[in-house]
Amino acid sequence: MTHKIIIDTDPGIDDAMAIFYAALHPDIDIVGMTGVFGNVTADIAARNAIVLAERVKQTIPVAKGANAPLVIAPNGVSDYVHGTEGFGTMPAQSITGQPLDEPAHEFICRMINEHQNEIILCPIGPLTNIAMALEHDPSIAAKTKAVYIMGGGLDKGNVTEHAEANIWNDPHAADIVFAADWDITMVGLDVTTRVQCSPADFDRIGASTPIIGGFLNEAVQFYFDFYASHYGKRGCDMHDPTAIIAITDPQYFIIETHALEVIVEGARSGQTVRSTDPSRPKHKVPMDVDAKGVKQRFLSMIETGF
Ligand code: RIB
Ligand code: CA
Repeated sequence: MTHKIIIDTDPGIDDAMAIFYAALHPDIDIVGMTGVFGNVTADIAARNAIVLAERVKQTIPVAKGANAPLVIAPNGVSDYVHGTEGFGTMPAQSITGQPLDEPAHEFICRMINEHQNEIILCPIGPLTNIAMALEHDPSIAAKTKAVYIMGGGLDKGNVTEHAEANIWNDPHAADIVFAADWDITMVGLDVTTRVQCSPADFDRIGASTPIIGGFLNEAVQFYFDFYASHYGKRGCDMHDPTAIIAITDPQYFIIETHALEVIVEGARSGQTVRSTDPSRPKHKVPMDVDAKGVKQRFLSMIETGF
């Protein structure tokens, strides 16, 4: 079975890992990508999505999306984690293609309406484009096959004690997305922080596939520097690829179901919590993971590259 996916992304080093995994997977067809602010600006996000598509030799439509959250003032880009151009110390990469003229939220709605019950949305950045798409055409919730989000977490935060970065960057958008009645899997920090790679893992894929693994190995050194200075260990969490691997390899995840809501103000802004509101739909929340299985799946898929 081929999964038709739209990746909504802020590339971003772990976004690059996720996009390469998806592009190389024989059962995934990336039918579009949409750029959003987060790790980088929306302009850089769209450009970097094209950089990654061209590097993996695929022609994928890319639409530019939101450059700011719906309500709160922007928190600022995460250049201290991903580098000023998104891929560590690499300078801006040139591209041949260009983003579509169509804005991201309209592209998402058009694609879902043209391919009803076929599209899986994979947001791996702030949820602004997805909330804007829902507001533009609420009927898309019933026509979307599934939504796999990298974001949130029920037991931990990363950018604050309580909040995960993608949700913290636009808590109002995330709350709109979790309130909608569609099939969401929230792949959050509960599982993504357990899937970790080391410098040796990236050295190996860098040597075996210089164009794909080599690019990741060069970019990830900056990410390792961040983890070393913040967590005292040279390695990294595999946030965004874990969300895509949840689509292709659900057997690695132990999933609970919970209605979810997002705290949108105060010290806990951006925290995802279980909701007691009976009107809220229940969503899937992986709470445990076969971390070695997911990591091996990622590394072996990149090793099918070039
Ligand atoms: O908290 C991790 C998430 O924030 C990942 O999507 C990473 O790329 C950043 O956007
Ligand atoms: Ca991301």
